[in-house]
Amino acid sequence: MTISAVLAIDQGTSATKAVVTDQAGQILAEASAPIRPHYPEEAVAEQDPEELWTSVLTAGREAVRRAQAPVDAVALANQGESILVWDRATSRPLSTIIGWQDRRATEICTELSDAAEALRQSTGLVLDPYFSAPKMGWARRHLSQQGVVTTTDTWLVHRLCGAFVTDASTASRSLLTSLSSTGWDQASVDLFGLTDEELPTIVGCDEIVGTTSAFGPDIPLGGLIVDQQAALLAQACVNAGDAKCTYGTGAFLLANAGQHPVISPSGLTTSVAWQLRGQPSYCLDGQVYTAASAVRWAIDLGLIDSARDIDAVAAHTSDGVVFVPAFAGLAAPWWDPAATACLRGMTLSTGRGEIIRALVEGIAAQVAVLTALVAAELPTPPTRLRVDGGLTGSAALMQAQADLLGIPVEVHSSADATGLGAAACLRLALDASATVDQIVRPSPPSRVYEPRWSREHAAEVLSRWQAAAATTMP
Ligand code: G3P
Repeated sequence: MTISAVLAIDQGTSATKAVVTDQAGQILAEASAPIRPHYPEEAVAEQDPEELWTSVLTAGREAVRRAQAPVDAVALANQGESILVWDRATSRPLSTIIGWQDRRATEICTELSDAAEALRQSTGLVLDPYFSAPKMGWARRHLSQQGVVTTTDTWLVHRLCGAFVTDASTASRSLLTSLSSTGWDQASVDLFGLTDEELPTIVGCDEIVGTTSAFGPDIPLGGLIVDQQAALLAQACVNAGDAKCTYGTGAFLLANAGQHPVISPSGLTTSVAWQLRGQPSYCLDGQVYTAASAVRWAIDLGLIDSARDIDAVAAHTSDGVVFVPAFAGLAAPWWDPAATACLRGMTLSTGRGEIIRALVEGIAAQVAVLTALVAAELPTPPTRLRVDGGLTGSAALMQAQADLLGIPVEVHSSADATGLGAAACLRLALDASATVDQIVRPSPPSRVYEPRWSREHAAEVLSRWQAAAATTMP
């Protein structure tokens, strides 16, 4: 079968995006549909499953319509750690979606704290409510004992084609898989009280799992992968030490760690980057839980009208204001779900310009801390940071990032890097003779930000930020 156009769906936290690419991997059309996550109270981050489903159909169908060409197959990238309870016979949701930012499963993590080190060694992950297994255990305890409890990808794929699967990268974000075998680890499954659960079959990222007529005529569905890992692939980070950061709802720094898992001594997490041609590749990752959602907070507060205003409003300097945007706890390397955001150093002369500048520098500082850890742990430290995601549209943020990192920041040519990564997995699924190198080719960055600060100045700003971060944890 000759494959011409494919559709890739990037089902994210604040939007579902869809991209149609041609045979050469060039973008023919894009579309997106917004989603509004709900943060009704402290520690809660939920999504409406039907809103998610509708957004997948809306974005996918609109991208196909705009492409004005039939698509031959569809790929799906997912949020990674968000879960729900649902009925396998009907695909009907039996709970809301417990989003990856939700921290109510802290109680499960506290109860299992004696097993944290063993889990870290076997799964590569830190025992934190961010990952899917604590949420699954919490959902069973507090929401519903009916049906199945899985990550959102399994539910979406089941609705699309009837298969009951997840992929190796998504499974590796659960705390339930063995890092070395990439399969379910019975001891971990038992630990979280999930022994009697039906767990989905784990497939490679380059597998076709069924067919769907959700976007037009019946076409194969495959190329399943976590959104962050998909972006790592799209950024052609295929060699150990290659790193990218995606600035979406959160900001996620991932570095390719090669074909053998490494356990981070500093609290970064290790998971499967992708499993292609039967071979897993691994990545080290660090997380900033609130990037665009911190910007959203500033919008909701009336400090700016939209993310597009950041550059116009941000003052030239923060004038001593420091912002730690830990609105949903802190992840690597602090791992404190109870951390809260902090804004300090304000005086009567502080205006919204200084606050927005401090917010931008706060996001960039957290990414810089993570990048320094990655650089220390991999044999080849990154010499540049490839970036993608909506917030890369802010020159203020990208310049702050380069200034704090001391290395160039290269912006991906497409806002849909995640979709392109999923599309690459799908093309590998459709063409058994194709190699990763043939399908994944680096694209020239749309913009490069060179660092402007001296090392001393960057170190001073970072250390001030880290001192503030230390005060956010109870
Ligand atoms: O781990 C959660 C992350 O993958 C969600 O990505 O793009 O929705 O911020 P995004």
